Amino acid sequence: MPDQSAATAPALPSTPSPLPVTVLGLGAMGSALAAATAEAGHPTTVWNRTAGRADALVAAGAREATSVRDAVGSSPLVVAVLLDHASVHETLGPVADALAGRTLVDLVTTTPEESRELAAWATSHGIDYLDGGIMAVPAMIGGPGSEVLYSGSRAVFDAARPVLDTWGESTWLGEDPGLAPLYDLALLAGMYAMFAGFFHGVAMVGTAGVSATDFARRAAPWLVAMTSGLADYADVIDRRDYGGPGQQSLEFSDPSDMVRASEEAGLATDVVAAVQALVRRQVDAGHGADGFARAVESIRTDTTRTHTAGGTR
Ligand SMILES: NC(=O)c1ccc[n+]([C@@H]2O[C@H](COP(=O)([O-])OP(=O)(O)OC[C@H]3O[C@@H](n4cnc5c(N)ncnc54)[C@H](OP(=O)(O)O)[C@@H]3O)[C@@H](O)[C@H]2O)c1
Repeated sequence: MPDQSAATAPALPSTPSPLPVTVLGLGAMGSALAAATAEAGHPTTVWNRTAGRADALVAAGAREATSVRDAVGSSPLVVAVLLDHASVHETLGPVADALAGRTLVDLVTTTPEESRELAAWATSHGIDYLDGGIMAVPAMIGGPGSEVLYSGSRAVFDAARPVLDTWGESTWLGEDPGLAPLYDLALLAGMYAMFAGFFHGVAMVGTAGVSATDFARRAAPWLVAMTSGLADYADVIDRRDYGGPGQQSLEFSDPSDMVRASEEAGLATDVVAAVQALVRRQVDAGHGADGFARAVESIRTDTTRTHTAGGTR
């Protein structure tokens, strides 16, 4: 992992409000973020690869840059909201010299290693760096429930707060720039697996003519109620105490009946078969009487580190 200590003295002024900011990328998310900073009174410069997406923001008080170089040179704080990691390098590589001495906040969804690589690239060019993972959809930006997770230099995070806080709750997770994307993707893994399970349930009841809308009315409160079990599973996992009392066993949790019912109905079994595979690996290794939470051991490796990290706001 690269040494981030060089990025501890942020280029941003200490009490900058309003704080000039540049937003690169005016897709759904970039437009929402730029609208929030402009509305909050921060001088906002915007740039998008394809012309014609800045009109509403210009009407709201933002300035449209004529080029990427103009954009990054217009503000001490530059926010990337482009498509992916490759598009960030493609866009910023040619203007790294203009970014030197400024702060780059990368809100693009990346892997932890991609973020660490970008942080190292930034440091090598004299650019302060902060990584961010947006836990919201564009319509939520600036409103209740919107949270953005950050990692990288704490000093850079603190200096950028006047702008960051216009988007929602700002939470700093640690100096390792890979932490924000790690949490981001871990939370998305839980979300996507839950939605896939819901889709499987929709397909199952659909074989009896039940609409997805009717099923959702039952599924939503059921899934919400089940999330109360997460803390108990977490406690067992952190202590690796899968044999403790009161746990539903792996043998009892085996979803073979869900797989069989799906097969009988002619449905694809990918979702439930994936859960079954996690359970089976532990049962086959002789742990069938242990609790269901032991299924996590089918996923992780011996190198998994367990620590408590809540983040700070
Ligand atoms: N939307 C969400 O709910 C959400 C939530 C959390 C995180 N995010 C993350 O936020 C980022 C932006 O998402 P979005 O929803 O705004 O996506 P989007 O609507 O598809 O917009 C993508 C943006 O990236 C630009 N772009 C694509 N390839 C490029 C390239 N090679 N060089 C320069 N610019 C390029 C596009 O410019 P053009 O107009 O020229 O194509 C556009 O401005 C993504 O990393 C996404 O994962 C989004």
